[in-house]
Amino acid sequence: MKKFPEGFYWGAATASYQVEGYNENTDWALAARQGKVPQAGRLADHYHRYEEDFDIAKELGHNAHRLSVEWGRIEPREGVFDEEELEHYRTVLKALKKRKITPFITLWHFTLPLWLAQSGGFERKDIHRIFARYCAKVVSALGDLCDNYSTINEPNVYATHCYLYGVWPPFKRASIFGKKIGKEDGTSERTGQNASFKNFLTYTKVVKNLIVSHNTAYDAIKEVRPDALVSVVKHVHVFENNGTAWNRIKSWIMAHYQTHAFMIGVQHKLDMIGLNYYRQTYFGEPKVYEVSDMGWNMFPEGIYQALHMLKIYHKPIVIAEAGVADARDAFRAQYIEKQIEGVSRALQDGIDVRGHMYWSLLDNYEWALGTDKRFGLVEVDYQTLKRTIRPSAHHYKKIIENNGIL
Ligand code: BGC
Repeated sequence: MKKFPEGFYWGAATASYQVEGYNENTDWALAARQGKVPQAGRLADHYHRYEEDFDIAKELGHNAHRLSVEWGRIEPREGVFDEEELEHYRTVLKALKKRKITPFITLWHFTLPLWLAQSGGFERKDIHRIFARYCAKVVSALGDLCDNYSTINEPNVYATHCYLYGVWPPFKRASIFGKKIGKEDGTSERTGQNASFKNFLTYTKVVKNLIVSHNTAYDAIKEVRPDALVSVVKHVHVFENNGTAWNRIKSWIMAHYQTHAFMIGVQHKLDMIGLNYYRQTYFGEPKVYEVSDMGWNMFPEGIYQALHMLKIYHKPIVIAEAGVADARDAFRAQYIEKQIEGVSRALQDGIDVRGHMYWSLLDNYEWALGTDKRFGLVEVDYQTLKRTIRPSAHHYKKIIENNGIL
């Protein structure tokens, strides 16, 4: 299918902590103050410059936009909601509406309010109730301006980085995990702090709590807005293999562990699925790929397999994130094209894909890696805050205008 279905959502995504600036009431800001992760500070100042950024999105032909709202702003103290911050997000949504850009809101994208992080975060027994209360509050405040809500962004990535690798707050590494980093003297060291076997058990508890939290939030959202479309945003790492029995088993185990174990837990509380696709691993003879600025193999066409992996849940799918870190903008246009070709093939196979949000609209804070990795369709100069549209963004625009690959 060269032409995509009528009404297909074309756009890009951002996340509050990564672009808004000065989200100080969060676990990440505290970790930055303690020198454990890079400082975020003002970043792109999207909190104040969203009008300018949405003008650019409009100019680039986008008819949809994925954004997240910052829990630490909205619920600065346990059970206390800040109506002014909710009003801020209403104004943001109105700015999208004015430009005829359909919003997709993510209610929680990795960062926790400080009070919650300091009282146990997703380890807390009652986290499902706390999370559902927060989600329902946001949806009742914004519900007339937005129909699409994702509860959680990339639950497994969150749990893995926080509780297995110990590289994100609260920095708990399960002893046998953690990425090995080579040192100058030839030895290596694992990343992550506070290693202990107990953290593995905490990890499994957190994954379970994330599942229950999504399911509880789904019901709570439906109570306040029965017709809202509620999803979870799931990252899918594609595992392929050369067909030998052992490599097939490895692929199956990894797909189950990283994707299906979570999806099976939430599958009855979903109206839609958000797919984040970035990576593929091939078990078999080593293949040679070009690598992105993240050091990741570039295999954008793997989005096709990722969509097939989610097909078994029989829900409409929106690509919530997919993109490449490429500061020179050398590969991005071709990357986007191949990615969209993959989506097009999936549509031909009958998979119900409703939209494609490139990651990201703007250069942003790439978590523990800081601001050097440039995913944006739009370059941000952090000194002057000047926005410069990258050439690849115009290529994406042409695809959008054609409603399909060129
Ligand atoms: C996350 C984004 C992140 C991107 C690139 C996804 O894991 O949702 O926050 O910036 O991938 O690493």
